[in-house]
Amino acid sequence: MFDTVIQGGTIYAPNNTFVGDIGIVGDTIGDIKEGGGLKGDKIIDATGKCVFPGFIDPHVHIHLPFMGTNAIDDHESATKAALVGGTTTIIEMICPGPDDEPANAFNEWKTLAEEGCCCDFTFHLAVVRFDALAQKQLRELVAEEGVQSFKIFLAYKGALDISDDDLLELMKMCKELGVTLTAHCENAEAVDSMQRKFLAEGKNGPEWHEPSRPRSVEADGVNHLCSFAELTGATIYIVHTSCGIAVDRAIEASGRGVDVTVEAVAPHLVLDKSYAERDDFEGAKFVMSPPLRDEVEHDALWRSLASGAVSTIGTDHAPFNFHGQKDMGREAFTLIPNGIPSIQERVDLVHTYGVCTGNIEMQTMVDACSTNVAKQFNMYPRKGAIQVGSDADIVVYDANFVGTFKHVDGLSKVDYSGFEGMERKGRSDVVLLRGKVVAEQGVFTGECAGGKYIPRK
Ligand code: URP
Ligand code: ZN
Ligand code: ZN
Repeated sequence: MFDTVIQGGTIYAPNNTFVGDIGIVGDTIGDIKEGGGLKGDKIIDATGKCVFPGFIDPHVHIHLPFMGTNAIDDHESATKAALVGGTTTIIEMICPGPDDEPANAFNEWKTLAEEGCCCDFTFHLAVVRFDALAQKQLRELVAEEGVQSFKIFLAYKGALDISDDDLLELMKMCKELGVTLTAHCENAEAVDSMQRKFLAEGKNGPEWHEPSRPRSVEADGVNHLCSFAELTGATIYIVHTSCGIAVDRAIEASGRGVDVTVEAVAPHLVLDKSYAERDDFEGAKFVMSPPLRDEVEHDALWRSLASGAVSTIGTDHAPFNFHGQKDMGREAFTLIPNGIPSIQERVDLVHTYGVCTGNIEMQTMVDACSTNVAKQFNMYPRKGAIQVGSDADIVVYDANFVGTFKHVDGLSKVDYSGFEGMERKGRSDVVLLRGKVVAEQGVFTGECAGGKYIPRK
């Protein structure tokens, strides 16, 4: 007799999809039976539904002091939104300022997350200083706190970027410690120069954001990072890749033996740069970096997902209100806080515009939004798999649900939705976190601050 049995759904287990039952004991999966027949104290009927491993978002910002303001969510609001959208684990970016010590930053972010996170969580730690003290602390955080991935920004000149000198040494350290280096790839110098040029010409609206950081600037950043990885042997992970030529640079590097993984994020897969060109400063809602591109890049990204050249999908959730935050940039697009929130919508967007359109298989969605993330960031098979012994993080998914994306359904604190009115197919019907039901049909039913830190080895 199990505590809970998820009965009669189509189960996406590693390398196998079948109709059956899942038996849960405490917080883990105790048995999986093709054809069914398991008995439990509590039964969740999944007939006609898909049963997925809990989704994992590899790229989330919650506590984010950035561009003169702070992202608007707290850990409670962001992770409630994550859970109703089927995401049971997040990897948040710790983004300290250039003077902050890494150990203090880690403690600050971890304390906030422990106080507020309703889903499980772990971190990528941004390296914005690399002096002797920072190096010592980074080593300690890897050895003692289960940090397994760092983050660098080849962007945001003068705020978060890092010199080539430091980057090379950091990559040697990553190689030595077996840590993955995640990276925002653009050419910060080129962006800075083009931004100044456009502003001097009076081109100050949000529609100038994309032209100030075109695809070639991103491809150059990817190439730069890959070259350094080739020199050092470091494992690299390129976040929020927005266009085909950036993916191509990574594929070429992989052909030369570079250990590189490429991430896409939900906004780049479904929104294009015309959104940032909307009148009355509406376009500011759609300013993120790298920017939204031409629609043709959607196809390039979906094709790359189908081929495996892009292997994960995150959100880059970075919520800034339109009123009071985005509008700080009315006089200059360079002052619009960058970010398009999607922590709640990610899986349904990928299902609607990836799976239902035939761009990718359902299994590719599961891999990119869960399994591959768990494998890449050393959480597998505790997370990212429906298999005996794994955490019972499970999503019973109604692939037949039809609706529209609406801001009023969102649990994030942000005051708009970038996907308002867009067609939606699919919904997380029941979401379980370590065996407990935490969300049902768009309503959070879990425990506040019920999330756990997932240290990684
Ligand atoms: O526009 C973005 N991506 N905002 C969040 C910060 C970052 O670059 O990831
Ligand atoms: Zn970034
Ligand atoms: Zn980001």
